[in-house]
Amino acid sequence: MCCPTDPTDPTHPTHPTDPVDPTASADRPPGPDDWREANRARWDERVAIHTASDYYDQDGFRRAKDVIRAFESAEVGDVTGRSLLHLQCHFGQDTLSWLHRGAAHVVGLDFSEPAVETARELAAELGYGPDRASFVAADVYDAAEAVPDPSYDIVYTGIGALNWLPDLVRWAETAASLITPGGFLYLAEFHPLGDVLDEETGSRIAYDYFRRDAWVEETPGT
Ligand SMILES: C[S@@+](CC[C@H](N)C(=O)[O-])C[C@H]1O[C@@H](n2cnc3c(N)ncnc32)[C@H](O)[C@@H]1O
Repeated sequence: MCCPTDPTDPTHPTHPTDPVDPTASADRPPGPDDWREANRARWDERVAIHTASDYYDQDGFRRAKDVIRAFESAEVGDVTGRSLLHLQCHFGQDTLSWLHRGAAHVVGLDFSEPAVETARELAAELGYGPDRASFVAADVYDAAEAVPDPSYDIVYTGIGALNWLPDLVRWAETAASLITPGGFLYLAEFHPLGDVLDEETGSRIAYDYFRRDAWVEETPGT
Protein backbone atom coordinates (compact mmCIF):
# COMPACT_ATOMS: atom_id res chain seq x y z
CA MET A 1 0.00 0.00 0.00
CA CYS A 2 0.98 3.57 -0.13
CA CYS A 3 3.16 4.73 2.67
CA PRO A 4 1.91 7.47 4.97
CA THR A 5 4.89 7.01 7.26
CA ASP A 6 7.34 6.31 4.47
CA PRO A 7 10.77 6.92 6.01
CA THR A 8 12.18 7.80 2.60
CA ASP A 9 9.69 10.63 2.19
CA PRO A 10 11.88 13.75 1.96
CA THR A 11 9.11 15.92 3.38
CA HIS A 12 8.49 13.68 6.38
CA PRO A 13 8.91 15.91 9.42
CA THR A 14 10.74 13.27 11.43
CA HIS A 15 12.81 11.77 8.64
CA PRO A 16 15.49 10.12 10.75
CA THR A 17 18.46 10.86 8.53
CA ASP A 18 17.59 14.51 7.90
CA PRO A 19 19.97 16.84 9.64
CA VAL A 20 18.21 19.69 11.38
CA ASP A 21 18.00 22.50 8.87
CA PRO A 22 18.78 25.73 10.76
CA THR A 23 17.30 27.85 7.96
CA ALA A 24 13.99 26.01 7.98
CA SER A 25 10.96 28.16 8.72
CA ALA A 26 7.20 28.05 8.27
CA ASP A 27 7.76 29.63 4.85
CA ARG A 28 10.50 27.26 3.79
CA PRO A 29 10.07 23.71 5.08
CA PRO A 30 13.16 21.53 5.43
CA GLY A 31 14.12 19.27 2.56
CA PRO A 32 15.64 19.62 -0.90
CA ASP A 33 14.45 22.53 -3.01
CA ASP A 34 12.95 20.18 -5.58
CA TRP A 35 11.01 18.09 -3.05
CA ARG A 36 7.66 18.83 -4.68
CA GLU A 37 8.84 17.71 -8.13
CA ALA A 38 10.59 14.69 -6.62
CA ASN A 39 7.42 13.77 -4.76
CA ARG A 40 5.26 14.21 -7.86
CA ALA A 41 7.65 12.12 -9.96
CA ARG A 42 7.41 9.34 -7.40
CA TRP A 43 3.62 9.49 -7.47
CA ASP A 44 3.68 9.41 -11.27
CA GLU A 45 5.77 6.23 -11.07
CA ARG A 46 3.50 4.67 -8.49
CA VAL A 47 0.39 4.82 -10.65
CA ALA A 48 1.39 1.84 -12.79
CA ILE A 49 2.68 -0.02 -9.73
CA HIS A 50 -0.51 0.60 -7.79
CA THR A 51 -2.91 -0.21 -10.62
CA ALA A 52 -1.15 -3.59 -10.93
CA SER A 53 -1.12 -4.21 -7.18
CA ASP A 54 -3.23 -6.51 -5.03
CA TYR A 55 -3.80 -3.65 -2.60
CA TYR A 56 -5.67 -1.53 -5.16
CA ASP A 57 -7.09 -4.59 -6.99
CA GLN A 58 -8.40 -2.72 -10.02
CA ASP A 59 -10.32 -5.72 -11.36
CA GLY A 60 -12.02 -6.17 -8.02
CA PHE A 61 -12.84 -2.47 -8.02
CA ARG A 62 -14.34 -2.66 -11.51
CA ARG A 63 -16.67 -5.36 -10.15
CA ALA A 64 -17.55 -3.92 -6.74
CA LYS A 65 -17.17 -0.21 -7.61
CA ASP A 66 -16.81 0.55 -3.95
CA VAL A 67 -13.81 0.75 -1.63
CA ILE A 68 -15.26 3.07 0.99
CA ARG A 69 -14.48 1.75 4.45
CA ALA A 70 -17.37 1.03 6.81
CA PHE A 71 -16.31 3.75 9.23
CA GLU A 72 -16.17 6.34 6.44
CA SER A 73 -19.61 5.44 5.22
CA ALA A 74 -21.03 5.56 8.76
CA GLU A 75 -19.47 8.96 9.44
CA VAL A 76 -20.17 10.63 6.09
CA GLY A 77 -23.71 9.31 5.90
CA ASP A 78 -25.97 9.28 2.88
CA VAL A 79 -24.37 11.01 -0.10
CA THR A 80 -27.35 10.66 -2.39
CA GLY A 81 -27.72 13.68 -4.64
CA ARG A 82 -24.77 15.51 -3.15
CA SER A 83 -21.75 16.98 -4.87
CA LEU A 84 -18.37 15.76 -3.66
CA LEU A 85 -14.84 16.98 -4.22
CA HIS A 86 -12.05 14.51 -3.48
CA LEU A 87 -8.70 16.18 -2.86
CA GLN A 88 -5.61 14.06 -3.68
CA CYS A 89 -7.73 11.38 -5.34
CA HIS A 90 -4.90 9.21 -6.76
CA PHE A 91 -6.56 7.27 -9.62
CA GLY A 92 -10.06 7.75 -8.36
CA GLN A 93 -11.18 4.56 -6.63
CA ASP A 94 -12.51 6.38 -3.56
CA THR A 95 -13.91 9.19 -5.71
CA LEU A 96 -15.85 6.83 -7.96
CA SER A 97 -17.02 4.81 -4.95
CA TRP A 98 -18.87 7.85 -3.65
CA LEU A 99 -20.48 8.21 -7.06
CA HIS A 100 -21.51 4.56 -6.95
CA ARG A 101 -23.02 5.28 -3.54
CA GLY A 102 -25.32 7.90 -5.00
CA ALA A 103 -23.45 11.21 -5.14
CA ALA A 104 -24.85 13.45 -7.88
CA HIS A 105 -21.42 14.27 -9.20
CA VAL A 106 -17.85 13.94 -8.03
CA VAL A 107 -14.65 15.77 -8.83
CA GLY A 108 -11.25 14.28 -8.13
CA LEU A 109 -8.10 16.37 -7.96
CA ASP A 110 -4.53 15.13 -7.92
CA PHE A 111 -1.22 16.64 -9.02
CA SER A 112 -0.15 13.46 -10.82
CA GLU A 113 -1.14 13.58 -14.50
CA PRO A 114 -0.88 9.77 -14.92
CA ALA A 115 -3.11 9.32 -11.87
CA VAL A 116 -5.72 11.71 -13.24
CA GLU A 117 -5.56 10.12 -16.69
CA THR A 118 -6.05 6.66 -15.14
CA ALA A 119 -8.99 7.98 -13.08
CA ARG A 120 -10.63 9.36 -16.22
CA GLU A 121 -10.21 6.02 -17.99
CA LEU A 122 -11.63 4.16 -15.00
CA ALA A 123 -14.65 6.48 -14.88
CA ALA A 124 -15.27 5.98 -18.60
CA GLU A 125 -14.95 2.20 -18.21
CA LEU A 126 -17.60 2.30 -15.50
CA GLY A 127 -19.87 4.33 -17.76
CA TYR A 128 -19.63 7.69 -16.02
CA GLY A 129 -19.40 10.76 -18.24
CA PRO A 130 -17.76 14.05 -17.25
CA ASP A 131 -21.13 15.33 -16.01
CA ARG A 132 -20.97 12.72 -13.21
CA ALA A 133 -17.23 12.35 -12.66
CA SER A 134 -14.46 14.71 -13.61
CA PHE A 135 -10.80 14.65 -12.71
CA VAL A 136 -8.38 17.55 -12.71
CA ALA A 137 -4.60 17.62 -12.50
CA ALA A 138 -3.49 20.35 -10.11
CA ASP A 139 -1.63 20.92 -6.90
CA VAL A 140 -4.00 20.72 -3.96
CA TYR A 141 -3.06 24.27 -2.97
CA ASP A 142 -4.39 25.46 -6.34
CA ALA A 143 -7.65 23.54 -6.01
CA ALA A 144 -9.90 26.60 -5.79
CA GLU A 145 -8.75 27.77 -9.23
CA ALA A 146 -8.57 24.28 -10.76
CA VAL A 147 -11.89 22.61 -9.95
CA PRO A 148 -14.99 23.19 -12.11
CA ASP A 149 -17.39 24.40 -9.39
CA PRO A 150 -16.80 27.03 -6.71
CA SER A 151 -18.04 24.80 -3.89
CA TYR A 152 -19.18 21.29 -3.00
CA ASP A 153 -21.52 19.72 -0.44
CA ILE A 154 -18.75 17.42 0.71
CA VAL A 155 -15.00 17.91 0.46
CA TYR A 156 -13.41 14.52 1.10
CA THR A 157 -9.85 13.40 1.54
CA GLY A 158 -8.79 9.80 2.08
CA ILE A 159 -6.02 8.02 3.90
CA GLY A 160 -2.41 8.69 2.99
CA ALA A 161 -2.86 12.24 1.73
CA LEU A 162 -1.88 14.79 4.36
CA ASN A 163 1.62 13.56 5.11
CA TRP A 164 2.81 14.72 1.67
CA LEU A 165 1.92 18.33 2.34
CA PRO A 166 4.21 20.97 3.85
CA ASP A 167 1.55 23.39 5.14
CA LEU A 168 -1.58 22.02 6.77
CA VAL A 169 -3.05 25.41 7.64
CA ARG A 170 -2.98 26.43 3.99
CA TRP A 171 -4.43 23.04 3.07
CA ALA A 172 -7.28 23.50 5.58
CA GLU A 173 -7.99 27.01 4.31
CA THR A 174 -8.12 25.71 0.74
CA ALA A 175 -10.44 22.84 1.67
CA ALA A 176 -12.71 25.12 3.73
CA SER A 177 -13.02 27.61 0.87
CA LEU A 178 -14.48 24.87 -1.33
CA ILE A 179 -17.32 23.79 0.97
CA THR A 180 -20.86 24.90 0.21
CA PRO A 181 -22.55 26.55 3.24
CA GLY A 182 -24.09 23.69 5.22
CA GLY A 183 -21.65 21.19 3.71
CA PHE A 184 -18.64 19.66 5.40
CA LEU A 185 -15.08 18.46 5.12
CA TYR A 186 -14.54 14.76 5.80
CA LEU A 187 -10.98 13.72 6.51
CA ALA A 188 -9.95 10.08 6.98
CA GLU A 189 -6.27 9.79 7.74
CA PHE A 190 -3.62 7.61 9.33
CA HIS A 191 -2.10 8.89 12.53
CA PRO A 192 1.54 8.04 13.32
CA LEU A 193 0.44 7.03 16.81
CA GLY A 194 -0.61 3.76 15.17
CA ASP A 195 3.04 3.14 14.34
CA VAL A 196 3.91 2.53 18.01
CA LEU A 197 1.70 -0.56 18.15
CA ASP A 198 2.98 -4.11 17.75
CA GLU A 199 2.46 -5.94 14.45
CA GLU A 200 0.98 -9.08 16.04
CA THR A 201 -2.00 -7.68 17.90
CA GLY A 202 -2.02 -4.00 17.03
CA SER A 203 -3.05 -3.33 20.60
CA ARG A 204 0.22 -3.20 22.55
CA ILE A 205 2.70 -0.33 22.59
CA ALA A 206 5.93 -1.75 21.16
CA TYR A 207 7.81 1.25 19.74
CA ASP A 208 8.85 4.67 20.94
CA TYR A 209 6.68 7.35 19.36
CA PHE A 210 9.68 9.70 19.38
CA ARG A 211 12.24 7.28 17.98
CA ARG A 212 14.72 8.85 15.58
CA ASP A 213 16.40 5.70 14.20
CA ALA A 214 15.80 4.61 10.60
CA TRP A 215 12.69 2.58 9.89
CA VAL A 216 13.62 -0.26 7.53
CA GLU A 217 10.82 -1.91 5.54
CA GLU A 218 11.60 -5.13 3.67
CA THR A 219 8.13 -5.68 2.18
CA PRO A 220 7.74 -5.41 -1.61
CA GLY A 221 5.65 -2.59 -3.05
CA THR A 222 5.63 1.13 -2.41
C1 LIG B 1 -1.87 7.71 -1.04
S1 LIG B 1 -2.68 8.69 -2.24
C2 LIG B 1 -4.18 8.95 -1.35
C3 LIG B 1 -5.40 8.68 -2.17
C4 LIG B 1 -6.34 7.59 -1.70
N1 LIG B 1 -6.53 7.58 -0.30
C5 LIG B 1 -5.87 6.27 -2.22
O1 LIG B 1 -5.39 5.45 -1.43
O2 LIG B 1 -6.02 6.00 -3.40
C6 LIG B 1 -1.88 10.28 -2.11
C7 LIG B 1 -2.12 11.13 -3.33
O3 LIG B 1 -1.74 12.47 -3.01
C8 LIG B 1 -1.29 13.07 -4.21
N2 LIG B 1 -0.57 14.29 -3.85
C9 LIG B 1 0.53 14.42 -3.07
N3 LIG B 1 0.87 15.71 -2.94
C10 LIG B 1 -0.04 16.43 -3.65
C11 LIG B 1 -0.22 17.81 -3.90
N4 LIG B 1 0.61 18.73 -3.38
N5 LIG B 1 -1.26 18.21 -4.66
C12 LIG B 1 -2.11 17.28 -5.21
N6 LIG B 1 -1.98 15.95 -5.02
C13 LIG B 1 -0.97 15.52 -4.23
C14 LIG B 1 -0.46 11.98 -4.87
O4 LIG B 1 -0.28 12.18 -6.25
C15 LIG B 1 -1.29 10.74 -4.53
O5 LIG B 1 -2.12 10.38 -5.60
